[in-house]
Amino acid sequence: MSDIQAIQTRLVDDIAAASDLDALEALRVAALGKAGSITALLKSLGGMTPDERQVQGPQIHTLREAVTAALADRKSALDAAALDIKLAAEAIDMSLPDDAAPRGSVHPVSQVMDELAEIFADMGFAVATGPEIEDDWRNFTALNIPETHPARAMHDTFYFPDTDAEGRAMLLRTHTSPVQIRTMMSQEPPIRIIAPGRVYRSDSDATHTPMFHQVEGLVIDRGIHMGHLKWTLETFLKAYFERDDIVLRLRPSYFPFTEPSAEVDVGYKQEKGRRIVGGHGDDDGHAWMELLGSGMVNRRVIANCGLDPDEWQGFAFGVGVDRLAMLKYGMDDLRAFFDGDLRWLSHYGFGALSVPTLSGGISA
Ligand code: DAH
Repeated sequence: MSDIQAIQTRLVDDIAAASDLDALEALRVAALGKAGSITALLKSLGGMTPDERQVQGPQIHTLREAVTAALADRKSALDAAALDIKLAAEAIDMSLPDDAAPRGSVHPVSQVMDELAEIFADMGFAVATGPEIEDDWRNFTALNIPETHPARAMHDTFYFPDTDAEGRAMLLRTHTSPVQIRTMMSQEPPIRIIAPGRVYRSDSDATHTPMFHQVEGLVIDRGIHMGHLKWTLETFLKAYFERDDIVLRLRPSYFPFTEPSAEVDVGYKQEKGRRIVGGHGDDDGHAWMELLGSGMVNRRVIANCGLDPDEWQGFAFGVGVDRLAMLKYGMDDLRAFFDGDLRWLSHYGFGALSVPTLSGGISA
Protein backbone atom coordinates (compact mmCIF):
# COMPACT_ATOMS: atom_id res chain seq x y z
CA MET A 1 0.00 0.00 0.00
CA SER A 2 1.44 3.38 -0.94
CA ASP A 3 1.86 6.07 1.70
CA ILE A 4 -0.97 8.02 0.17
CA GLN A 5 -3.35 5.06 0.33
CA ALA A 6 -2.37 4.58 3.96
CA ILE A 7 -3.15 8.24 4.70
CA GLN A 8 -6.51 7.86 2.95
CA THR A 9 -7.47 4.79 4.97
CA ARG A 10 -6.55 6.46 8.24
CA LEU A 11 -8.30 9.72 7.46
CA VAL A 12 -11.47 8.04 6.24
CA ASP A 13 -11.53 5.86 9.39
CA ASP A 14 -10.99 8.89 11.64
CA ILE A 15 -13.75 10.79 9.87
CA ALA A 16 -16.19 7.89 10.19
CA ALA A 17 -15.40 7.76 13.91
CA ALA A 18 -15.83 11.52 14.53
CA SER A 19 -18.22 11.75 17.47
CA ASP A 20 -19.63 15.20 16.82
CA LEU A 21 -19.63 18.11 14.38
CA ASP A 22 -16.77 19.89 16.18
CA ALA A 23 -14.51 16.83 15.97
CA LEU A 24 -15.43 16.47 12.30
CA GLU A 25 -14.59 20.10 11.59
CA ALA A 26 -11.21 19.68 13.29
CA LEU A 27 -10.47 16.71 11.02
CA ARG A 28 -11.51 18.69 7.95
CA VAL A 29 -9.20 21.57 8.85
CA ALA A 30 -6.32 19.20 9.58
CA ALA A 31 -6.69 17.58 6.15
CA LEU A 32 -8.08 20.20 3.78
CA GLY A 33 -7.47 23.50 5.61
CA LYS A 34 -4.78 25.97 4.53
CA ALA A 35 -2.13 24.12 6.52
CA GLY A 36 -3.82 20.75 6.13
CA SER A 37 -2.04 17.54 5.23
CA ILE A 38 -3.78 17.04 1.89
CA THR A 39 -3.32 20.71 1.02
CA ALA A 40 0.40 20.20 1.64
CA LEU A 41 0.45 17.14 -0.62
CA LEU A 42 -1.32 19.09 -3.38
CA LYS A 43 1.23 21.87 -3.04
CA SER A 44 4.10 19.37 -3.20
CA LEU A 45 3.01 18.38 -6.73
CA GLY A 46 4.54 21.64 -7.95
CA GLY A 47 8.04 20.57 -6.85
CA MET A 48 7.95 17.13 -8.49
CA THR A 49 9.38 15.95 -11.77
CA PRO A 50 6.83 15.29 -14.51
CA ASP A 51 7.25 11.52 -14.02
CA GLU A 52 6.65 11.73 -10.26
CA ARG A 53 3.71 14.00 -10.82
CA GLN A 54 2.18 11.56 -13.29
CA VAL A 55 2.20 8.81 -10.68
CA GLN A 56 1.37 10.80 -7.56
CA GLY A 57 -1.01 13.41 -9.04
CA PRO A 58 -3.97 11.06 -9.57
CA GLN A 59 -3.40 9.40 -6.17
CA ILE A 60 -3.45 12.73 -4.33
CA HIS A 61 -6.59 13.87 -6.14
CA THR A 62 -8.29 10.56 -5.39
CA LEU A 63 -7.30 11.02 -1.76
CA ARG A 64 -8.84 14.49 -1.67
CA GLU A 65 -12.09 13.30 -3.24
CA ALA A 66 -12.35 10.32 -0.89
CA VAL A 67 -11.78 12.51 2.17
CA THR A 68 -14.24 15.17 0.94
CA ALA A 69 -16.89 12.49 0.39
CA ALA A 70 -16.23 10.90 3.78
CA LEU A 71 -16.58 14.32 5.46
CA ALA A 72 -19.93 14.92 3.71
CA ASP A 73 -21.26 11.47 4.65
CA ARG A 74 -20.29 11.85 8.29
CA LYS A 75 -21.74 15.36 8.43
CA SER A 76 -25.15 14.24 7.19
CA ALA A 77 -25.12 11.28 9.61
CA LEU A 78 -24.29 13.59 12.53
CA ASP A 79 -26.91 16.14 11.38
CA ALA A 80 -29.59 13.44 11.23
CA ALA A 81 -28.66 12.19 14.68
CA ALA A 82 -28.78 15.75 16.06
CA LEU A 83 -32.26 16.23 14.52
CA ASP A 84 -33.46 12.98 16.09
CA ILE A 85 -32.31 14.14 19.48
CA LYS A 86 -33.97 17.53 19.00
CA LEU A 87 -37.25 15.97 17.85
CA ALA A 88 -37.27 13.56 20.75
CA ALA A 89 -36.78 16.50 23.14
CA GLU A 90 -39.57 18.52 21.49
CA ALA A 91 -42.15 15.74 21.23
CA ILE A 92 -45.74 16.93 21.78
CA ASP A 93 -47.54 15.36 24.68
CA MET A 94 -50.98 14.65 23.25
CA SER A 95 -52.42 13.99 26.68
CA LEU A 96 -51.96 17.59 27.82
CA PRO A 97 -55.09 19.81 27.85
CA ASP A 98 -55.18 22.23 24.88
CA ASP A 99 -54.99 25.99 25.16
CA ALA A 100 -58.68 26.64 24.44
CA ALA A 101 -58.10 28.32 21.06
CA PRO A 102 -61.12 30.17 19.62
CA ARG A 103 -63.25 27.73 17.70
CA GLY A 104 -65.78 29.84 15.81
CA SER A 105 -69.46 30.24 16.55
CA VAL A 106 -72.89 29.66 15.08
CA HIS A 107 -74.10 32.63 13.01
CA PRO A 108 -77.28 34.26 14.38
CA VAL A 109 -79.12 33.43 11.13
CA SER A 110 -78.34 29.73 11.56
CA GLN A 111 -79.23 29.94 15.22
CA VAL A 112 -82.62 31.53 14.49
CA MET A 113 -83.36 28.97 11.76
CA ASP A 114 -82.63 26.22 14.29
CA GLU A 115 -84.88 27.91 16.82
CA LEU A 116 -87.70 28.12 14.25
CA ALA A 117 -87.30 24.49 13.22
CA GLU A 118 -87.51 23.46 16.86
CA ILE A 119 -90.56 25.61 17.62
CA PHE A 120 -92.49 24.48 14.53
CA ALA A 121 -91.48 20.84 14.91
CA ASP A 122 -93.35 20.93 18.20
CA MET A 123 -96.49 21.95 16.27
CA GLY A 124 -96.02 19.15 13.75
CA PHE A 125 -94.33 21.11 10.96
CA ALA A 126 -91.62 19.50 8.82
CA VAL A 127 -88.80 21.51 7.24
CA ALA A 128 -89.03 21.74 3.43
CA THR A 129 -86.47 23.22 1.05
CA GLY A 130 -86.28 24.41 -2.53
CA PRO A 131 -83.53 25.63 -4.86
CA GLU A 132 -82.20 29.17 -4.76
CA ILE A 133 -82.19 29.17 -8.57
CA GLU A 134 -85.90 28.97 -9.34
CA ASP A 135 -88.01 29.22 -12.48
CA ASP A 136 -90.41 32.11 -12.99
CA TRP A 137 -93.42 29.81 -13.07
CA ARG A 138 -92.89 28.62 -9.47
CA ASN A 139 -91.52 31.95 -8.22
CA PHE A 140 -94.32 34.06 -9.76
CA THR A 141 -96.93 32.55 -12.09
CA ALA A 142 -98.08 29.61 -9.97
CA LEU A 143 -98.30 31.98 -7.00
CA ASN A 144 -100.80 34.09 -8.95
CA ILE A 145 -98.35 36.96 -9.33
CA PRO A 146 -99.45 38.78 -12.51
CA GLU A 147 -97.14 39.52 -15.44
CA THR A 148 -97.36 43.20 -14.57
CA HIS A 149 -96.28 42.82 -10.93
CA PRO A 150 -93.27 45.05 -10.10
CA ALA A 151 -91.46 42.18 -8.34
CA ARG A 152 -90.97 40.65 -11.79
CA ALA A 153 -89.13 43.71 -13.14
CA MET A 154 -85.56 43.25 -14.32
CA HIS A 155 -84.31 45.82 -11.82
CA ASP A 156 -85.90 44.01 -8.87
CA THR A 157 -84.96 40.44 -9.68
CA PHE A 158 -81.74 38.67 -10.69
CA TYR A 159 -82.49 36.78 -13.92
CA PHE A 160 -80.20 34.30 -15.65
CA PRO A 161 -79.55 34.77 -19.36
CA ASP A 162 -80.74 31.23 -20.22
CA THR A 163 -84.10 29.53 -19.79
CA ASP A 164 -84.61 26.01 -18.42
CA ALA A 165 -85.47 22.93 -20.52
CA GLU A 166 -89.15 23.92 -20.53
CA GLY A 167 -88.37 27.44 -21.74
CA ARG A 168 -89.03 29.07 -18.35
CA ALA A 169 -86.97 32.08 -17.28
CA MET A 170 -84.55 31.24 -14.45
CA LEU A 171 -83.91 33.60 -11.57
CA LEU A 172 -82.60 33.80 -8.03
CA ARG A 173 -85.78 33.24 -6.03
CA THR A 174 -87.15 36.47 -4.60
CA HIS A 175 -88.94 34.74 -1.70
CA THR A 176 -89.37 31.30 -0.15
CA SER A 177 -93.00 31.12 -1.37
CA PRO A 178 -92.12 28.89 -4.40
CA VAL A 179 -91.44 26.14 -1.84
CA GLN A 180 -95.23 26.20 -1.26
CA ILE A 181 -95.68 25.22 -4.91
CA ARG A 182 -92.96 22.57 -4.80
CA THR A 183 -94.45 21.03 -1.66
CA MET A 184 -98.07 20.99 -2.87
CA MET A 185 -96.98 19.42 -6.16
CA SER A 186 -94.89 16.71 -4.55
CA GLN A 187 -96.83 15.77 -1.39
CA GLU A 188 -100.35 14.71 -0.64
CA PRO A 189 -102.17 16.96 1.85
CA PRO A 190 -102.41 17.33 4.78
CA ILE A 191 -99.29 19.49 4.63
CA ARG A 192 -97.55 21.34 7.43
CA ILE A 193 -94.17 22.76 6.53
CA ILE A 194 -91.82 25.61 7.15
CA ALA A 195 -89.27 26.48 4.46
CA PRO A 196 -86.29 28.50 5.65
CA GLY A 197 -83.70 29.72 3.16
CA ARG A 198 -81.87 32.40 1.22
CA VAL A 199 -83.68 34.78 -1.10
CA TYR A 200 -82.44 37.53 -3.40
CA ARG A 201 -83.54 40.99 -4.46
CA SER A 202 -81.88 43.87 -6.20
CA ASP A 203 -81.85 46.04 -3.09
CA SER A 204 -79.11 47.44 -0.84
CA ASP A 205 -79.11 49.79 2.18
CA ALA A 206 -78.93 49.55 6.01
CA THR A 207 -82.07 47.41 6.17
CA HIS A 208 -81.87 45.64 2.78
CA THR A 209 -79.17 43.36 1.40
CA PRO A 210 -79.28 41.72 -2.05
CA MET A 211 -79.34 38.33 -0.29
CA PHE A 212 -81.33 37.74 2.87
CA HIS A 213 -83.26 34.99 4.62
CA GLN A 214 -86.91 34.14 4.94
CA VAL A 215 -88.96 31.38 6.41
CA GLU A 216 -92.19 30.37 4.74
CA GLY A 217 -94.98 28.52 6.49
CA LEU A 218 -97.69 26.47 4.81
CA VAL A 219 -100.59 24.42 6.13
CA ILE A 220 -102.97 22.63 3.75
CA ASP A 221 -105.74 20.51 5.17
CA ARG A 222 -109.54 20.31 5.34
CA GLY A 223 -111.48 23.01 7.17
CA ILE A 224 -108.51 25.31 7.85
CA HIS A 225 -109.45 28.91 8.69
CA MET A 226 -107.83 32.12 9.87
CA GLY A 227 -108.21 31.14 13.52
CA HIS A 228 -105.66 28.39 12.89
CA LEU A 229 -103.37 30.94 11.30
CA LYS A 230 -103.60 33.36 14.20
CA TRP A 231 -103.11 30.68 16.84
CA THR A 232 -100.10 29.27 15.01
CA LEU A 233 -98.43 32.66 14.65
CA GLU A 234 -99.14 33.59 18.25
CA THR A 235 -97.77 30.30 19.56
CA PHE A 236 -94.70 30.63 17.34
CA LEU A 237 -93.94 34.23 18.36
CA LYS A 238 -94.43 33.57 22.08
CA ALA A 239 -92.01 30.66 21.89
CA TYR A 240 -89.55 32.58 19.73
CA PHE A 241 -89.46 35.77 21.83
CA GLU A 242 -89.76 33.69 24.99
CA ARG A 243 -92.53 35.79 26.48
CA ASP A 244 -96.27 35.34 26.95
CA ASP A 245 -97.31 38.95 26.44
CA ILE A 246 -96.98 38.90 22.65
CA VAL A 247 -100.03 40.62 21.13
CA LEU A 248 -100.78 40.37 17.41
CA ARG A 249 -102.78 42.67 15.21
CA LEU A 250 -103.92 41.27 11.87
CA ARG A 251 -104.29 44.06 9.34
CA PRO A 252 -106.08 43.48 6.01
CA SER A 253 -103.55 43.48 3.20
CA TYR A 254 -102.96 42.11 -0.26
CA PHE A 255 -100.72 39.36 -1.54
CA PRO A 256 -101.51 37.68 -4.86
CA PHE A 257 -101.05 34.20 -3.37
CA THR A 258 -103.37 34.63 -0.37
CA GLU A 259 -107.03 35.62 -0.12
CA PRO A 260 -107.79 37.13 2.30
CA SER A 261 -104.34 38.43 3.19
CA ALA A 262 -103.19 39.90 6.47
CA GLU A 263 -100.15 41.84 7.49
CA VAL A 264 -99.28 40.80 11.03
CA ASP A 265 -98.13 43.48 13.48
CA VAL A 266 -96.77 42.94 16.98
CA GLY A 267 -96.92 45.34 19.91
CA TYR A 268 -93.55 46.60 21.17
CA LYS A 269 -92.02 49.35 23.20
CA GLN A 270 -88.88 51.36 22.66
CA GLU A 271 -86.31 50.86 25.42
CA LYS A 272 -82.81 52.35 25.39
CA GLY A 273 -82.90 52.71 21.63
CA ARG A 274 -84.08 49.13 21.13
CA ARG A 275 -87.45 47.75 20.14
CA ILE A 276 -88.59 45.28 22.76
CA VAL A 277 -91.37 43.06 21.41
CA GLY A 278 -94.28 42.51 23.81
CA GLY A 279 -97.40 44.18 25.11
CA HIS A 280 -100.41 45.65 23.34
CA GLY A 281 -99.42 48.11 20.66
CA ASP A 282 -102.11 50.57 21.76
CA ASP A 283 -100.92 50.65 25.40
CA ASP A 284 -99.00 53.61 26.79
CA GLY A 285 -95.46 53.80 25.49
CA HIS A 286 -96.18 51.01 23.00
CA ALA A 287 -96.65 50.90 19.24
CA TRP A 288 -97.30 48.38 16.47
CA MET A 289 -94.62 47.06 14.20
CA GLU A 290 -95.20 45.16 10.99
CA LEU A 291 -93.59 41.74 11.29
CA LEU A 292 -94.80 39.37 8.59
CA GLY A 293 -97.19 38.66 5.74
CA SER A 294 -99.80 35.94 5.80
CA GLY A 295 -103.21 34.83 4.62
CA MET A 296 -105.42 31.99 3.45
CA VAL A 297 -103.83 30.31 0.43
CA ASN A 298 -105.55 31.64 -2.71
CA ARG A 299 -107.83 29.08 -4.43
CA ARG A 300 -105.98 29.71 -7.68
CA VAL A 301 -102.65 28.71 -6.11
CA ILE A 302 -104.16 25.50 -4.76
CA ALA A 303 -105.64 24.73 -8.19
CA ASN A 304 -102.34 25.59 -9.95
CA CYS A 305 -100.74 22.79 -7.91
CA GLY A 306 -103.35 20.26 -9.07
CA LEU A 307 -105.37 20.18 -5.84
CA ASP A 308 -109.12 20.76 -5.53
CA PRO A 309 -109.62 24.05 -3.65
CA ASP A 310 -113.13 22.99 -2.59
CA GLU A 311 -111.60 20.10 -0.68
CA TRP A 312 -108.30 21.62 0.51
CA GLN A 313 -107.73 24.95 2.19
CA GLY A 314 -104.84 26.36 4.10
CA PHE A 315 -102.87 29.29 5.31
CA ALA A 316 -99.40 30.58 4.58
CA PHE A 317 -97.03 33.13 5.99
CA GLY A 318 -93.62 34.53 5.23
CA VAL A 319 -91.21 36.28 7.57
CA GLY A 320 -87.68 37.66 7.38
CA VAL A 321 -85.27 35.54 9.41
CA ASP A 322 -82.63 38.28 9.62
CA ARG A 323 -85.24 40.68 10.92
CA LEU A 324 -86.38 38.18 13.55
CA ALA A 325 -82.75 37.80 14.63
CA MET A 326 -82.22 41.58 14.82
CA LEU A 327 -85.34 42.05 16.94
CA LYS A 328 -84.48 39.30 19.38
CA TYR A 329 -80.74 39.79 19.67
CA GLY A 330 -80.51 43.56 19.21
CA MET A 331 -78.40 44.10 16.08
CA ASP A 332 -79.16 47.32 14.23
CA ASP A 333 -77.44 47.02 10.86
CA LEU A 334 -78.42 44.17 8.58
CA ARG A 335 -75.28 44.53 6.45
CA ALA A 336 -73.08 43.41 9.37
CA PHE A 337 -74.75 39.98 9.13
CA PHE A 338 -72.92 39.26 5.91
CA ASP A 339 -69.60 41.08 6.38
CA GLY A 340 -67.87 38.12 8.00
CA ASP A 341 -66.30 40.35 10.66
CA LEU A 342 -64.99 37.98 13.33
CA ARG A 343 -65.50 40.54 16.11
CA TRP A 344 -69.20 40.81 15.21
CA LEU A 345 -69.47 37.03 15.01
CA SER A 346 -67.81 36.47 18.35
CA HIS A 347 -70.13 39.05 19.93
CA TYR A 348 -73.41 37.85 18.41
CA GLY A 349 -72.53 34.23 17.58
CA PHE A 350 -73.73 31.18 19.49
CA GLY A 351 -71.86 28.20 20.89
CA ALA A 352 -71.92 25.23 18.55
CA LEU A 353 -73.09 22.94 21.33
CA SER A 354 -75.89 25.13 22.68
CA VAL A 355 -78.64 23.65 20.52
CA PRO A 356 -82.04 25.34 20.92
CA THR A 357 -84.69 23.13 22.46
CA LEU A 358 -88.11 23.94 23.85
CA SER A 359 -87.28 22.12 27.06
CA GLY A 360 -83.73 23.43 27.51
CA GLY A 361 -84.27 27.00 26.36
CA ILE A 362 -84.93 28.15 22.83
CA SER A 363 -82.12 30.69 22.71
CA ALA A 364 -79.81 28.26 24.51
N1 DAH B 1 -93.55 36.12 -0.14
C1 DAH B 1 -93.85 37.37 0.56
C2 DAH B 1 -92.66 38.32 0.42
O1 DAH B 1 -91.58 37.89 0.17
C3 DAH B 1 -94.09 37.13 2.03
C4 DAH B 1 -95.35 36.40 2.27
C5 DAH B 1 -96.53 37.10 2.47
C6 DAH B 1 -95.38 35.02 2.29
C7 DAH B 1 -97.71 36.43 2.70
C8 DAH B 1 -96.58 34.34 2.50
C9 DAH B 1 -97.74 35.09 2.71
O2 DAH B 1 -96.64 33.01 2.54
O3 DAH B 1 -98.91 34.41 2.95
O4 DAH B 1 -92.83 39.49 0.58
